[in-house]
Amino acid sequence: AKKKVSAKVISQKILADGIYDLRLETEITEDAVPGQFVGVYTDDKSSLLPRPISICGVSKEKNELRLVYRVVGKGTDLFSKLTEGDHVDVLGPLGNGYPMEEAAGKTAILMGGGIGVPPLLELAKRLTRLPEDKRPKDIKIVMGYRNDQTFLADEFRKYAELYIATDDGSLGTHGTVIDALNEQNIEGDVIYTCGPMPMLRGIKKYAAEHNMKAYLSLEERMACGVGACLGCVVKTRDVDAHSHVNNARICTDGPVFDAEDVDI
Ligand code: FES
Repeated sequence: AKKKVSAKVISQKILADGIYDLRLETEITEDAVPGQFVGVYTDDKSSLLPRPISICGVSKEKNELRLVYRVVGKGTDLFSKLTEGDHVDVLGPLGNGYPMEEAAGKTAILMGGGIGVPPLLELAKRLTRLPEDKRPKDIKIVMGYRNDQTFLADEFRKYAELYIATDDGSLGTHGTVIDALNEQNIEGDVIYTCGPMPMLRGIKKYAAEHNMKAYLSLEERMACGVGACLGCVVKTRDVDAHSHVNNARICTDGPVFDAEDVDI
């Protein structure tokens, strides 16, 4: 269940230009699952709403929540200044997370782009730790970056084979994550992804054409993350026979959706 807590900063470091790795000590780790996010509060008086940041790692043993985020504005710029021993208010865990059971016995492809890369790290970890009958038969990881600053790449390699695509061609496939799938002949049954909208649209189309399931995290579209700004409405198919949802809010109904259920 979600709660608002004052979390203590364990450490913060820079992983790449504008990309920060913040570790917090908090009991929010207890029931957090991959694909969920937290709302982080600032003391920026111009906006009292939290900023949604996806969960990159959870260590229940250490009560440690890891957030890897890009500085994109005032709120995230303030977070980037936090140092060991500081406290920050955090609300979470929020959102629904990836349906891991869909990959049991199948080949899962994890695809991330830019700041959509971090939430897939905890997913990769959890998928490999599932009991054997619930685990994917195989996992492939395809990550897209702007350039050779491939943050988290070595950590992904601990869990499965990693394929890289870069916008500038400095590493791996020159192009998108879909270009990497084609170039490397990567095949699978279920895609789990997070990234910018054009990438998600491309993956939705690719999955439909190749008869694959795809679960998209639309977190890029969120602003407040707590149902207050209405900036995250997305058109959906009737996903729920009882409520006939035609408009979903990404922050409260997602951020993860079956690609077939959303109009993006
Ligand atoms: Fe503000 Fe959903 S992100 S209402």
